[in-house]
Amino acid sequence: MEADYRSRFRNWERVATVRNSPVRELAGDGELLFTPELVPAMAHPILAQATPEIREAVLVHRLYEYLKFTIDLEQSAVIPVTGHISRGMSGLDLPEGMLLDAFKIVTDEAWHAQFTYELLRDVRNRTRIAPALPDAPTFTGALTRIHEELPSEIRGLDEILFAIVSETLISSLLDELPQDTRLPATVREMVADHAADEAKHHAYFSALLRYLWPAMTRRERELAGPYIPQLIFAFLEPDYPSAALGLRAAGLAGEDVEQIMSDVYGRDRIVADVRRGAAPTIQYFVEAGALEHGATLEAFQESGLIA
Ligand SMILES: [Fe+2]
Ligand SMILES: [Fe+2]
Repeated sequence: MEADYRSRFRNWERVATVRNSPVRELAGDGELLFTPELVPAMAHPILAQATPEIREAVLVHRLYEYLKFTIDLEQSAVIPVTGHISRGMSGLDLPEGMLLDAFKIVTDEAWHAQFTYELLRDVRNRTRIAPALPDAPTFTGALTRIHEELPSEIRGLDEILFAIVSETLISSLLDELPQDTRLPATVREMVADHAADEAKHHAYFSALLRYLWPAMTRRERELAGPYIPQLIFAFLEPDYPSAALGLRAAGLAGEDVEQIMSDVYGRDRIVADVRRGAAPTIQYFVEAGALEHGATLEAFQESGLIA
């Protein structure tokens, strides 16, 4: 088994951003705080005609949403699961190297959450725009619902599966924000730092799935498989309440917000976006044999994730 795992963390000491990147303070350069083309609402006629102040504020609120999502993801979903793995409590018979690497991932993620929070604070201080965020992002509520609904014999598998889902997706934001030269260098560098670490995490969690799935009993696979699409949607579906709060706080009228929300977030478009974003993860689950069970295949089809 040991031979199957090729660590991507051997040079962690030299390349991990927590060991090598400076604390980045937000400097006064860059006009936009988020890439407008990545915010579908920005192309809506209502926002296209809005004042520059409103349009800029929408981008600031979108940045806040992204930063808060990142903090919550690291702290509530990835760190707890990875901490369990590092202490040999995953219930899996993993190579020792994977336990050591789990410690490194916990350190990386704690650093990501920290610098993301620091950036959020810096943006708030610089723009003097107060964040307008829900108490908890929608994905944490979705995960709680799934956890409670899960048959008791597999409860807990949802947490490790969600960590695998969220860590093996290629986040388009991690890729695209650093390339947008209209953004402050600090924002771009921070996101680039995050992306550099996540490339290694991606390899780790895809390997983890290769250990997890065969270690599950047939019954566990049949029970858990149909929940995978829900976990994927929990991670990738837009956070509608948060988006609406941001638009409202940017200065749009209530009816305009409703109009934009219903025009921009059509179901077909959402499903197509989620399917595109989830492609690598879906491929790993296919390779692991997860879709060989009828109910799981059906759940993937019903969700629109596969044809
Ligand atoms: Fe991270
Ligand atoms: Fe990660």
